Amino acid sequence: MLIAARRNRTLIEGTRLLAGAFQLDQSTSVGELGSLFSYQGDRPLQRLKRRLAAAYGVAWCFPSTHGTSGLNILALLTACPPGGRVLVNRDAHSSVTAAMVHGGFQPVYLPATYDRELGVSLGPTRDAVHDLLAREQVDCVFLTSPNYYGIVGELAAIVALAHDRGLPVVVDAAHAPHFHFSDALPTAAEDVGADFVAQSTHKVATALSQGSLLLLRNRKAVPRLYEHINELGLVSTSFSYPILASIELGVLQLVEQGDKVWRETIARADAFRLACRQLPGVSCFGREQDAKAGFVEFDPTRVTIDVSGTGLTGFEVERRLQGRHIYPELATVQNVLFLFTPGTTARDIAALRAELKAIVRKGSDAERIALPTPPSIPHIAVLPRVAKFAPKSVVRAKAAVGRVAGETIATYPPGVPIVAAGEIITSDIVEYLQYMQSHGAVIKGAADPSLQTFKVL
Ligand SMILES: Cc1ncc(COP(=O)(O)O)c(C=O)c1O
Repeated sequence: MLIAARRNRTLIEGTRLLAGAFQLDQSTSVGELGSLFSYQGDRPLQRLKRRLAAAYGVAWCFPSTHGTSGLNILALLTACPPGGRVLVNRDAHSSVTAAMVHGGFQPVYLPATYDRELGVSLGPTRDAVHDLLAREQVDCVFLTSPNYYGIVGELAAIVALAHDRGLPVVVDAAHAPHFHFSDALPTAAEDVGADFVAQSTHKVATALSQGSLLLLRNRKAVPRLYEHINELGLVSTSFSYPILASIELGVLQLVEQGDKVWRETIARADAFRLACRQLPGVSCFGREQDAKAGFVEFDPTRVTIDVSGTGLTGFEVERRLQGRHIYPELATVQNVLFLFTPGTTARDIAALRAELKAIVRKGSDAERIALPTPPSIPHIAVLPRVAKFAPKSVVRAKAAVGRVAGETIATYPPGVPIVAAGEIITSDIVEYLQYMQSHGAVIKGAADPSLQTFKVL
């Protein structure tokens, strides 16, 4: 009922859809549509949840109007007992750090496998998880898959390993709402038995911003999830009907045309990848990297170009592109990442190619840039929750070495914490952060963005 009238609309009609959004919006909850806060009954909202679950082949689906950020927290609170130990990939999104605070959890970090040649993190490997599980007792496994670069590690093997040990697995699949619908894309986390899978339908599919899904493998977890949804204030009681409607439209498009439109998108991205390899000083990895551990599958619609041979940083290339109203997904010292979607037109691609050609020609006579290796994960002195609420002081950078961090500082993008609140600050950390900052990285989470001072416990 909520959606049926808009069944045939597509993203291309976005402007009209937005006009429809105003009509769909309600300032009070509409009883006849059912409740987002209940998993019982047979009103339209409950039927929507069942249809979404059926589309992904899972037992239950909670559509969120608060993005995957809110869902990561709800999923972890449901999967892990309070104060539990969570095996979690270090390069997880900041919402996962927030979940650690809410649940009083102890993170047991799985280091990101940084590939120096590509300048990107790879996915998790079964061996690394196995070794960590042999050393550490944990209550739950949390993984991000794919990572920002579209790389999927040994996810299926890790889920099987965790399940053998009776551990629930939560996967942040923010960038993978489309995987389930095409064999040309990597295997979806929900298809390898992950217990909770959070996806940003708004990022990759066509939902309005903040429209995300939490997929549940097992119905048993549903009452506990809804307890949290109802009691923790992470879901607004004035949730957005237009966002819900757009989620259903986005998933409907995936069901009906997902394989076709994503195969076409892959072909366009692959052609662009080949063209980038012809640019002087530019390289661009693809599926051929799959001999590397932690590079099992790859979403080719994510195109990462390495510009370090041009004498420019990725940040500089991004800045110049932005000056031409072209907005990459992210940049690092070495790389610039572009997202291709079914909405990416041949004209967009031609414009991007022309700009890149001009930019790298200008930069190609400079030196190759020295790339720093991120420092190793520091020692955890106190739990994230303790660090969050502890009194703090501000000291000069030199004096911060050896102290317990009072802030989680990440280089952004992609937002990987270099030090998390509660961890011991080392000189490597200070130097790495200052180097990244001087090369144009955005430093996220530092009270003093100049990094002259640090907040400590
Ligand atoms: C891996 C990952 N997880 C979660 C999020 C948060 O998703 P949302 O914007 O849907 O809240 C992001 C956002 O960039 C992300 O990249």
